Amino acid sequence: MKTQNNILRRQFLSHVAQTSPAPQLIEVAKAEGVYFYTPEGKRYFDLISGVSVSNVGHANQSVVEAVCRQARDYMHVMVYGEMVERPQVEYATLIASLLPEPLNSVYFLNSGAEAVEGALKLAKRYTARTEMISMRRAYHGSTHGAMSMMGFPEGEEWKNAFRPLLPDCKAIEYNNFDELEQITERTACVLCEPLQGEAGVRLPKEGYLDALRRRCTEVGALLIFDEIQTGMGRSGEMFAMTKYGVTPDIVCLAKAFGGGMPLGAFVSSNEIMGTLQHDPVLGHITTFGGHPVCCAAGLAAAQYLIGNKVVEDVERKGALFESLLLGHPNVVEIRRSGLLLAVELGSSERLYKIMDLFIERGILSDWFLYCDTAFRISPPLVISDSEIRECVELIINCLNDL
Ligand SMILES: Cc1ncc(COP(=O)(O)O)c(C=O)c1O
Repeated sequence: MKTQNNILRRQFLSHVAQTSPAPQLIEVAKAEGVYFYTPEGKRYFDLISGVSVSNVGHANQSVVEAVCRQARDYMHVMVYGEMVERPQVEYATLIASLLPEPLNSVYFLNSGAEAVEGALKLAKRYTARTEMISMRRAYHGSTHGAMSMMGFPEGEEWKNAFRPLLPDCKAIEYNNFDELEQITERTACVLCEPLQGEAGVRLPKEGYLDALRRRCTEVGALLIFDEIQTGMGRSGEMFAMTKYGVTPDIVCLAKAFGGGMPLGAFVSSNEIMGTLQHDPVLGHITTFGGHPVCCAAGLAAAQYLIGNKVVEDVERKGALFESLLLGHPNVVEIRRSGLLLAVELGSSERLYKIMDLFIERGILSDWFLYCDTAFRISPPLVISDSEIRECVELIINCLNDL
């Protein structure tokens, strides 16, 4: 077994492309609920959820059955938006019923970055303007368009080597009311996470999203919310926008939206979305977007969240994590929305050290793209109270040894 695993690791290093010089190299044999296991049977608490994907837990039976059923009926038949495919129609109808009016037209894609690309194109097409504004310390994906919207100057570390990127993009400071003036009649859209994830979990100041909405409406710019990480219950509401009572013109969804399968979407009103049908016709097209098996998985996951009232318990579970960890002398601060927590340790040295302790003791966590002084807690939303307590005990063990 050991030799076989070593061969697999060697093949991984030789043939699976990597983007970091020191991959974790933990082999996954099985994942179930809030855990995954190596072939040697070592158990890890999953505090990343595939980066906010596995909200309904690993190997959720409702999702697994929906995937098998749909794969038996049909998989791929024709590019998106031509044929009537039941899993797409039913999922789009459910999502439209969960989102506030007028967000009732769903364009399915394969990933978060693609959802962002589609939303940006739609905003340019609808407004006939070119300027696109994002927030500093935002992450929206790795394609050229999505990457162009990584805010300046922090995003430069990733963007600089890949220029030229999209023209006419600029970033403003999230939560800065004065900088909203930079949104003008030239602006096609403002792309914003209602609460910033990769910045290290930064919540909106009271009234900020309202003011952003008002400014966009005033100047005729479209407001796009990126709920790729916050959507599907992570923030304690099905969508963070309802937590703050602000409705965008377009919302981007992905990650947990596919129930563990690759699925993204941008959602808007029928009126705005309708512009993709003409001048030019086929304004945005995709071969695999809205794959029936992925839609069946996403639909089953959303129905599971609703049927089992999972989201109703997210805020309480997040607060339990917070209360059990806050007060530890090595915890400087906890920033949190629902079950997305950034536990601030105050230095990257401490953070790197705790990451090693975590791996040794069976916890998979991570830091944030723009914040390497805090570790992430974003477990599957189905985590139980006893699992939270057991996990916190392990975390405290590691904090004690810092
Ligand atoms: C807020 C946000 N937007 C967009 C993306 C990109 O999604 P994907 O990796 O599916 O392209 C991510 C991924 O981490 C994200 O966190």
